[in-house]
Amino acid sequence: MTLSTDILQEKLTHPFQYFDSVDSTNDIAKQWLQDGAQSGSVVIGNEQRKGRGRKGRTWYTPPDVALAISVILKPPKQYISRINIIGALSVYDLAEHVGCQNIGIKWPNDVQINERKVSGILPEAVWDGDKLLGIVLGMGINVRNDFSDTEIADIATTLESESGTSLNRADLIAYLMQRIDMWYERIPADALFITWKNRLNMLGQQVKIDKLEGLAVGVESDGALLVQDKDKQMQRVLAGDVFVIHKSGNK
Ligand code: BTN
Repeated sequence: MTLSTDILQEKLTHPFQYFDSVDSTNDIAKQWLQDGAQSGSVVIGNEQRKGRGRKGRTWYTPPDVALAISVILKPPKQYISRINIIGALSVYDLAEHVGCQNIGIKWPNDVQINERKVSGILPEAVWDGDKLLGIVLGMGINVRNDFSDTEIADIATTLESESGTSLNRADLIAYLMQRIDMWYERIPADALFITWKNRLNMLGQQVKIDKLEGLAVGVESDGALLVQDKDKQMQRVLAGDVFVIHKSGNK
C-alpha cells in the first residue's frame, strides 16, 4: 500500500509532513525546525531524489519500497550524542517487532540483520549561533528494496526479506515513532547506553577504522568507540566506518 497523508493521519499522533517525492526529508525537517516545529514533529518521504548519507554519500530511497523519515528532537545539549543511539535502538526494536532475527548494531548506528545493513541514520544538529535549536534524526530503512544488480547487493538487506512477511509502511512508521518516544524519554538513563552497548555487534573483534586497526574493546557514554591498537594504546574514535577484519569468537 502506498503512503499518504490520510493514512498517516490515522496512525500518527505526532505533527507530520508527508511528501510523495522530496529531495531530502532531513532538509525539510531542518527548515521546519528553524520555523519553530515542536519536538517530536516528523517529516516522511515516499521517495527521496537527493537523499543524503553519512560522509557526503548518496542515500537511495526509491518510491514505495523504503522509509525515509526525519524526526525533530530538542534534547538538552549534553545529550546530543545520544540521538544517534536512540535512532539505532528504535530501528533495532522495529526489526525485532516484525520478526527479524540476528539483528545487531554496527557502531555507531547502522542496524544490520544477518550482518547486512537494513538502515542508515543521519542525525544533524541545527544551531542558532551557539544555541542548539534541535536535532533532526534522519532514518532510512529498507523495507522491500530490490538490491539485485546493485553494488550493495551483498551488504544490504530489507525488513521484508529478513522477516519473510509483507509489511505495511504506515504501521512501521507508527511503531518506530512509539519506540523513538520511549527511548527519548529515557535519554539520560544508563539503560539507554547499556542496551545500545549490548546490541553492538563488533565489540571484542579486530576492527579497522580508516587507518586504525585494533581490538574494539568498548564504548564510552558519549558514544565513542575504544580501540586498543597494536601498540596496546587505547584510541578513542568518535566517527568512522568500522570493518570487522576477523572474528575472534568471543564477544
Ligand atoms: C548512512 O549513510 O548510513 C545514513 C543514511 C541516512 C538516510 C536518511 S533517509 C531520511 C533522511 N534524509 C536524508 O537525506 N538522509 C536521511
